[in-house]
Amino acid sequence: MRTFPTATGLRTYLDGLPNDQTVAYVPTMGALHAGHMALITAARDSHDVVVASIFVNPTQFNEASDLDTYPRTPEADADLLQLHGCDALYLPAVEDVYPSDYEDRTSRLDFGPLVAVMEGANRPGHFAGVAQVVYRLLDIVRPTTLVLGQKDYQQVAVIRSMIEQLGVKVDVTVVPTVRERDGLALSSRNRRLNDAERLAAGTINLHLKAVAAGLTAGWDPKELEKTAFREMAHHELLAPEYVSIFDGDTLQPWAADAPVRELVVATAVRCGPVRLIDNFIVRTSF
Ligand code: PAF
Repeated sequence: MRTFPTATGLRTYLDGLPNDQTVAYVPTMGALHAGHMALITAARDSHDVVVASIFVNPTQFNEASDLDTYPRTPEADADLLQLHGCDALYLPAVEDVYPSDYEDRTSRLDFGPLVAVMEGANRPGHFAGVAQVVYRLLDIVRPTTLVLGQKDYQQVAVIRSMIEQLGVKVDVTVVPTVRERDGLALSSRNRRLNDAERLAAGTINLHLKAVAAGLTAGWDPKELEKTAFREMAHHELLAPEYVSIFDGDTLQPWAADAPVRELVVATAVRCGPVRLIDNFIVRTSF
């Protein structure tokens, strides 16, 4: 695997590849785990060249302490990427991603209702930062396919909207969430949980599964949201911010029985020092 600290170096490498080679790109913020490796494997299985990046993007953090404590493990990350068949790693400094003369085309975008709910409502400015960095990274890598994780469901919707609004030519592949044995969704932030918090965090997915079962049984979505929220809030180590049942295309709350392509339940929960998110696709073609 080749590692490039600059966009210029990475571009020189990519420009030297034969024109017909397909390139899959996996953007990450590092502290890599099996969830990221599932993205690399999906990329590897279907493309000639796999590019990953590790960049803890300051513009998408709405809490300074979250940015400061975000785990950084670049050596271990590079080993994992190499082991899983990644060809090129872009590992830039902030100035390489955002040079002083950089003109941000994403600042004029309007994500409307997509960012008025869930993460967008609870983390002001977060998705503007995500759109900004992903556009910039796509402009550098110019991949055939962008590979993203389903765990960040709303992020995928916002990135798809950015791609559409700016006419970026790239396909998007979404890879299912990888989970621990107890169902906890893998996240770089999980490593900051102590033993008791880790146990508590493992119950979050059970509440989402209970909501999914309730929906399948025809129960009222608002009541299911309230029950899951209340039950998580009962746990002394869990502080839920939202439980939301929504239409996967619009991200808007689901009115029971309205036809949807994909019905999803998602949550954000503070557990000790960490804010965790998770979601389940309850059904497709409801
Ligand atoms: O999901 C992430 O890790 C980040 O939001 C991303 C897509 C790498 C942009 O910084």
